[in-house]
Amino acid sequence: MNVLGVESSCDETAAAVVRDGREILSSVVASQAATHREFGGVVPELASREHVDNICFVVDRALAESASSWADLGGVAVTRGPGLVGALLVGMAYAKAVAFARNIPFLGVNHLEGHIHSIFLDHPDAELPALSLVVSGGHTNLYHFRAVGDCELLAKTRDDAAGEALDKLSKHLRLGYPGGPVIERLAREGDPGSVSFTLPRITDRSLDFSFSGLKTAALRFVRDNRIGVSDPDAEEKLPEAILNLAAGFQHAVIDQLIDRLSRALPGREVRSIHVSGGVSCNGELRRRITGSFEALGLPVYFPRPSLTTDNAAMIAAAGYRHLRAGRRDPWSLGADANLRVE
Ligand code: KG4
Ligand code: ZN
Repeated sequence: MNVLGVESSCDETAAAVVRDGREILSSVVASQAATHREFGGVVPELASREHVDNICFVVDRALAESASSWADLGGVAVTRGPGLVGALLVGMAYAKAVAFARNIPFLGVNHLEGHIHSIFLDHPDAELPALSLVVSGGHTNLYHFRAVGDCELLAKTRDDAAGEALDKLSKHLRLGYPGGPVIERLAREGDPGSVSFTLPRITDRSLDFSFSGLKTAALRFVRDNRIGVSDPDAEEKLPEAILNLAAGFQHAVIDQLIDRLSRALPGREVRSIHVSGGVSCNGELRRRITGSFEALGLPVYFPRPSLTTDNAAMIAAAGYRHLRAGRRDPWSLGADANLRVE
C-alpha cells in the first residue's frame, strides 16, 4: 500500500510517498531554515505563511518523484501534533482536502510517533521491546517501546529539549540556527575535557532530563571568560575557548542521554536501543551511544541522517501501520499542539 505522508509541524514543509511502511518512493523537504536564521529560532507566523506557500508544490513533487498517482494511494497520513498550531493546520487542511476530493482514507499521526517509526524505514527488523529515545529541537522523550501501539513514556525533559539547548548556545554565541550542526562542527576541533559540566542532579528517582542548568553554566562561562564572536560572518578562526566550550557542552548533553538510557535498563525487557530526532544526526552521539550499548550486547539503531530531522517519510511509515490496521480519522479531527504518544 502506498501512503502519502504530509508534515508541517514546525519549520519544514514535507511530503513523501512510502510503500508498505518501509520503501521510500519519494521524500521532499522544503526547509525554512533560511527564513528563521536571522531570528535565531522559529517564528511561528512566518512558518505558517511559508507552509501555505510551499505545500502544493512539495506534494506535487513528491507524487511526481514517486512515479505514482493519486489513484495509487491507499491513504493520506498527516502530522496532527505536537507542534506549532498554525503550522499544523496548514498540513491538516491540505491533507483533508485532497483525501476528501480523491476519496482516499485520511489519518492524523503523532509527530513523535513518526520519529519513533523512522527507525523502521532502514531497519525493518529492529528488535522490540526497545528503549526508544526521541531527541529533537522540541522534545527529549524516552519510551519503552514494547510493540506498535504500545509505547510507555518513561522520561521527558523538565525544561529545555537537548536540541533547544544546542540552538540556544549557538544563538548566544551568534553562530547561527539551527545550532546542533554548528556545535558539532566546532566540537570536532575542541577538547571536551577542558570545559566540563556536571550531570544535573534529579533528586527523586525519575529518569527525566534537564538541560537548562547546562545552558546556564555555558552562558556563565561565556560571560566570565569574555568570549564571543565579533563578526559571525567573518571567516576568521574562532577562539579556542569557543571550540572547547562547544566540545564540552556536546559531551555533557550526550553524557546525560547515555546516563538515562543506562538507568532505564534494569527491570525492563529491552532487546535494542533506538535513537531518533534531529539531534540523533550528531556523529559523536552515534559513536558514543553505539559504543556504550553494543558493549552490553544491545544493538543500537538510528535513522539515516536525512531522516533524523523532520520529514514526511516517517509520518507515512507510522500512518501505514495504523491504516493497515483499519484506523481512519473523521474530517472533524483537529490539530493538537500538545498531542502525546498513546
Ligand atoms: O527533529 P527536528 O528536525 O525538529 C523537531 O521536531 O524539533 O530536530 C531539530 C533539532 C534542532 O534543535 C537542531 O539543532 C538539532 O535537531 N540538530 C542537531 C544536528 N542536526 C540537527 N543536533 C546535534 N547535531 C546535529 N548534527
Ligand atoms: Zn521532529
